[in-house]
Amino acid sequence: MSDDHGGPLFIWRGTPVARRSLLVGLGAVGAFLAVDLGAVAYANKWIAAGSALTRQTFIDGFRAVYGSHPGFRKNHAKGVAVAGYFDANGNGTELSRAAVFRSGRVPVTGRFSLAGGNPFGADNPATARGLGLAIGFPGEQQWRTAMLNLAVFPDKSPQGFYDRLLASRAEAGRGKPDPEAMKRFNAAHPETVKATAINKTRPPTPGFADSTFSSLNTFFFVDGSNARTPVRWSFVPLQAALPAGSGDNGLFDALVRQVRVEPLRWRLLLTVGQPADPTTDATLPWPDGRRQIDAGTVTLTAAETEAAGNARDVNFDPLVLPDGIEPSDDPLLSARSAVYAASYRARTGEPTSPPAIRVEDVAR
Ligand code: HEM
Repeated sequence: MSDDHGGPLFIWRGTPVARRSLLVGLGAVGAFLAVDLGAVAYANKWIAAGSALTRQTFIDGFRAVYGSHPGFRKNHAKGVAVAGYFDANGNGTELSRAAVFRSGRVPVTGRFSLAGGNPFGADNPATARGLGLAIGFPGEQQWRTAMLNLAVFPDKSPQGFYDRLLASRAEAGRGKPDPEAMKRFNAAHPETVKATAINKTRPPTPGFADSTFSSLNTFFFVDGSNARTPVRWSFVPLQAALPAGSGDNGLFDALVRQVRVEPLRWRLLLTVGQPADPTTDATLPWPDGRRQIDAGTVTLTAAETEAAGNARDVNFDPLVLPDGIEPSDDPLLSARSAVYAASYRARTGEPTSPPAIRVEDVAR
């Protein structure tokens, strides 16, 4: 049914769809949606009521901290595009009427990344790892998600994210952040100190392939009778990872080498919230033992250098959701949507340069 050399991957409306045409199709849809749907909050100048932050404040902040890198994402700048499919087993339909949860296979385009705005920095195992997925057929409702390999997010508000970003800025002449700036930040943000301690209890795994990627923000799943259930989701790996290679791209190189020889798979687990569980603060974990529903498996069959027509041109806006999944009131979500759209607009208007991860250059 699938291969990673361009052979038929799906039977889509009776027609076999080759991997390459699928990537091109998804890329085109991605770019289109990014402009139209990704810009959900574009009309609003401010990120949140009562906040002095705008989308542009964030874009300027990323540039101030990481430098100017035309054509690249302003955060999660270093990445590699992937493609594959999602097999739903039907269990998710208990909570959501979204078509993506009905038994069957839909295409996926995705991107693995490392947090930070420098597309050419050396891979550091401690840097947060990202996975963006666009799940669903081109031209139909897609489910977009951008997840991290963390247990909880370090910030509960856009202001916290911004202040932490600036506190991490390397001082001119020292090449390192001012330790006093981070101390001041931590004193003002006990929630970040607590969240960081929680994340330390779950140290990073050896690679991308064995990382669990989680939504961290809460969403509401809506069923056919409009019943709403708070959900956080995770993609849990079904394989070990090849050891990271030496060199600046060690984590990405290992991922590229592994997907060449075997499809990589993650199980989608939906964690069902209880009424008292926090839904608007991503620094707070939900209690252990919450019910989990195994909704299916994502399989990634190919990695590609970021280029026109693949995930490079997709905005993994967390508010691009199908009917049946709704955002919570977590203030990070609308801020993310607004800032991702601004980053997308900025990078698609700038000249591009070759990305750090060139799949064809990764040794076999
Ligand atoms: C206020 C909080 C946040 C801000 C301002 C922010 C900002 C950004 C920006 C500007 C990008 C690049 C977007 C693009 O050009 O396409 C990005 C990418 C990303 N962010 Fe965030 N982010 C925030 C919170 C989060 C959270 C809570 C998560 C995960 C739970 C997350 C995960 C990711 C991932 C995985 C990517 C890479 C997606 C891709 O490959 O395109 N971010 N973020």
